[in-house]
Amino acid sequence: MSGPLLLAIESSCDETSIAIVEDGRRIHANIVASQIALHGPTGGIVPEVAARAHLRWIVPVLDEALATAGVTMADVDGVAVTYGPGLAGSLLVGVNFAKTIAWVHGKPLIPVNHLEGHVYAGWLLDPGEAEREEPPFPLIALVVSGGHTFLVEMRDHLDYRYLGGTIDDAAGEAFDKVGRLLGLGYPGGPEISRAADRATAHNRVFPRAWMPGTYDLSFSGLKTAARRIIAQARADAGLPADEREGDLPEAAVAELAWGFQDSVTDVLTRKTIHAAEAVGARGIVLGGGVAANGALRRRISGEAEARGIAMVIPRPGLCTDNGAMIGAAGARRMAAGLRAGLDLDARPSLPLARPVAK
Ligand code: KG4
Ligand code: ZN
Repeated sequence: MSGPLLLAIESSCDETSIAIVEDGRRIHANIVASQIALHGPTGGIVPEVAARAHLRWIVPVLDEALATAGVTMADVDGVAVTYGPGLAGSLLVGVNFAKTIAWVHGKPLIPVNHLEGHVYAGWLLDPGEAEREEPPFPLIALVVSGGHTFLVEMRDHLDYRYLGGTIDDAAGEAFDKVGRLLGLGYPGGPEISRAADRATAHNRVFPRAWMPGTYDLSFSGLKTAARRIIAQARADAGLPADEREGDLPEAAVAELAWGFQDSVTDVLTRKTIHAAEAVGARGIVLGGGVAANGALRRRISGEAEARGIAMVIPRPGLCTDNGAMIGAAGARRMAAGLRAGLDLDARPSLPLARPVAK
């Protein structure tokens, strides 16, 4: 093996994932224990249930990651772990598990920002995948997940300039909410995408929040508009207002899903391309769960290609939460000398403030 080998742990939300990543690029194992089935009945994540599931699965996931990569802890050069943002209880499990194995095996601990992980998924290579160019700097990264939606400019590794982002809801949250309104399963993103693919009519127009003159985004108005448009479609079909009482015909659901997805895709694509042109970007990196969306991938790739901008979109399984992306970002942080302490505090603590001079 050429570069450092990292064990990388992700537990910020509802996936327990541990990966083995070489040199911040090559995946040797990337095991993801998904809690989707667990949270389906409640239609969303219950934080306490998520934290307990991480505790249940983290050891078997570690064992499987090491076995899949064919390595032992002795071969590992460091332990990278998501420090945040995320659900407090879920992060606690991953961070303390990482501290423990780092201490027991005498390895450095590297703290990683989850969102930085979504960006660095663009550098990953699957086992056996042919080498390819790294994303070129300067680049624009669009992170679109269940909890975050923003644009950053990167002129080098670990160098982020925030350009703008959602001032209210994340794009993924809007997908999940509208999925529920359409009577689709949890999570709504993939369900909306599948329904939209079945649309035979493309006449539904949903509003777009352009937030002119900024790189900011907004999806709460779209959510409200979707509620109104769906209610109207239900009334037109002679159905009661409550989405739990009777389903809209499949063709109507498909067309509404398409219209909603088209609005999100349109805004995200135009804002990203605009940012890329403004900073003279050579590349665009897309990350986060919503980047798994086929319509967004096709639209933004087409626009980037037409302008000669290199487009990097990880395969869908690397867009949603996974340990490998934490290993990719962790390798850069390790190379930059970033380390976390192994103190016994549950969460990383702040240094004592300097006493105020009297
Ligand atoms: O990045 P992620 O796995 O977790 C967070 O860090 O939030 O993103 C999850 C989000 C959910 O809102 C989910 O509905 C959305 O990503 N998502 C999709 C698709 N697959 C997942 N949204 C649209 N189309 C998809 N194919
Ligand atoms: Zn995420």
